[in-house]
Amino acid sequence: MSAAPSPEPSHDCPLCPRLHDFIAAWREREPGWFNAPVPTFLPPEGEDSVKLLIVGLAPGLRGANRTGRPFTGDYAGDLLYGTMIAQGLARGEFKARPDDGLELVGTAITNAVRCVPPENKPVGAEIATCRTFLRPTIARFPNLRAILTLGSIAHQSTVRALGGRVAAIPFRHGGRQEAGGIALFSSYHCSRYNTNTGVLTEEMFVSVFKEIAAFLKN
Ligand code: URA
Repeated sequence: MSAAPSPEPSHDCPLCPRLHDFIAAWREREPGWFNAPVPTFLPPEGEDSVKLLIVGLAPGLRGANRTGRPFTGDYAGDLLYGTMIAQGLARGEFKARPDDGLELVGTAITNAVRCVPPENKPVGAEIATCRTFLRPTIARFPNLRAILTLGSIAHQSTVRALGGRVAAIPFRHGGRQEAGGIALFSSYHCSRYNTNTGVLTEEMFVSVFKEIAAFLKN
């Protein structure tokens, strides 16, 4: 009998040579940084308490790749965690450090690609390879009811991980669709670029979270 696939890559995951080499170069340059595949951020109550999984794109170089916690240390996290606290999906104060004491509530946060990609752009093969971890990440939560994907790459990879077809379940900001028995919510990514250009406003982001919070209450 073969072992269940692991939801977490090894610290020195070799599966994507380009990303592995990129991280190796940053380990030399910044030995104090995390510089490794970033693990899923879990609530203290554990896997059974997770009803919502948030899927981001990939660690930012000076954000999650530096700190080791998704969305921690770059602009995207300010908007994400601020909104989550306001909607009761996180508690404490977000201070952009992994030791800030912030706790998730009924929610886990992961990335479609676990290693920082050069220029924030993973290639198709890296996204597909990292589904090796996204699939068991989704499967590890027995009480999961909803997934929120941030951006079209996270959306498409999640649809595929759930066994759906991207053509049948296309990315739509503010959309709620069904895939593999899970409610799939989608939002534009909360990156500084998207908010600076007005693609995503704070109001738009908050309204996605309000819808999810209402769905989870039912
Ligand atoms: N940080 C992450 O961990 N993921 C993103 O998608 C962006 C920033």
